[in-house]
Amino acid sequence: MPKICLCLTGSTIAQDLEALERYRDKVDMVELRADYLDPSELFHLRAFPEKAGMPSILTVRRKTDGGKFDLGEGVRLVTFARGLAFADSDRRKNFSYVDIEHDFHIPSIQEAARTFGTKIIRSKHCLDGMPADIDKVWRELSSRPSEIPKLAVRANGMADVDSVFRLFEGGAGRGERVVVSMGEYGFCTRVLADRLGSMLVYASAIGAGLEAPAPGQLDPSQLLETYRAKEFDRDWSLYGILGGPAVIHSLSPIIHNSGFSALGLRSLYLPFPSDDVGSFLSLADRLGVRGFSITVPFKERVLPFLSRRSAEVEAIGACNTAIKDGSEWVGYNTDAYGFSSDVRRFLGVDSMKGLRATIVGAGGAAKAAAYALNSLGAKVCVVNRSMSKARRLAEAYGFEWSGMTERAADLMERYNDLIVQTTSVGLEGGQDGDPIEWYEFSGREALYEAIYSPPETPVMRRARRAGCRVTNGLGMLYAQAEAQFSLFSGRDYPKGGPSCPIPTALRS
Ligand code: ATR
Repeated sequence: MPKICLCLTGSTIAQDLEALERYRDKVDMVELRADYLDPSELFHLRAFPEKAGMPSILTVRRKTDGGKFDLGEGVRLVTFARGLAFADSDRRKNFSYVDIEHDFHIPSIQEAARTFGTKIIRSKHCLDGMPADIDKVWRELSSRPSEIPKLAVRANGMADVDSVFRLFEGGAGRGERVVVSMGEYGFCTRVLADRLGSMLVYASAIGAGLEAPAPGQLDPSQLLETYRAKEFDRDWSLYGILGGPAVIHSLSPIIHNSGFSALGLRSLYLPFPSDDVGSFLSLADRLGVRGFSITVPFKERVLPFLSRRSAEVEAIGACNTAIKDGSEWVGYNTDAYGFSSDVRRFLGVDSMKGLRATIVGAGGAAKAAAYALNSLGAKVCVVNRSMSKARRLAEAYGFEWSGMTERAADLMERYNDLIVQTTSVGLEGGQDGDPIEWYEFSGREALYEAIYSPPETPVMRRARRAGCRVTNGLGMLYAQAEAQFSLFSGRDYPKGGPSCPIPTALRS
């Protein structure tokens, strides 16, 4: 089981130690990022391991390797020497590890490390992405038996992440190693460090106000509470959510993992930010993923990859759930059910006969809303940036439609009992703004925003200020997730239904 290593990126050692106190009982070791320290603090490195009171790594990462250190090679060498010099015969007072870049070969430093029981982590950071000769890079890096090789590769897409897992699939050499894929696409390598044979997983002290040295790093509380890092092993069933980079803000991992945990199921669910469905599916097969949710922008793009589709997927033309059956992927849609049950709760009605509604957007979420509103008997119009998509969706149900033109405002005035916003505009981590900024709310409209993160989007704020009744998509998220949970696990979601305890790391 990989150890959790807390990366300390304070500007003073005192700040680092304070951050460590917040996480002491959650982590196994710490990495002192000397490249984040104020230069005057570098004189006091030596005392750090004893003060930390747990195994410590000394790292002085240069800017060229993705760190902050820019005081030159001479000062870097002296910094290592200060950290290791006059080491104590009591090894607990020494750094347990020193992280040295692949091209740093100073015999005196390496000798000092060996003499005082400090293990060398020999690291290579591929910041531009996956090198074509990755196998050779790894062979060279891992060629010194007394050192621990560390490979950190920036993933420029899901194919890179798949290659990292492929490289270590067959073992790729025994012994201790550290492997991570940096950047948002590499997120899953942090949660699944064990599958890469990595001896540790890096976590950031985000909750203590320190900067994450690499994007995608999790807080130890998230690793332990959401991703059950100390329980999870290779026999567990894997599930996840396929989406664009913004999917790392999704609440679905908290919802599904809370459900699995409450039922005592050995299952784990994690976000897979992706650029491409095919590469994700290759990785999913490699990892043995049993089912996954699908969100923006893949609800339609996933269709050609499904061997079978439920009647609802066929009717809606979008899929938000895929389940593995033998070697095939079977597609389902729980969005329509989720939207239908939550919009009725919001409006306090069972049927929508006589109600007139506008759907803003014509993507996968809009298609589920159109299907549900049609089934509920509403009269509907569709407005969307790309006119051809608006027309195609509207014509399938005999709805009116418009591009985002002046005509749209006129049309919406006739369909404004309910406005359902389904575009990705306003989504956390995505494009900011209000997709219908040209529409003036009268105050009598009910606005259903399918986005739930952030909890209030700009269009919601504007509608609320005009006196409209508004809701975000949290209720829909819970309802569709509950149905999805049953498809994944064959069990009902635990009593009380989904709710989202905010991760400790994010509590103020
Ligand atoms: P999903 O499957 O989750 O619905 P999608 O199929 O990518 O995601 O659909 C995204 C929706 O947001 C589409 O209606 C898209 O409009 P286009 O059909 O014109 O692409 C809409 N959208 C995305 N960015 C937008 C923007 N900047 N302004 C207006 N609409 C936008």
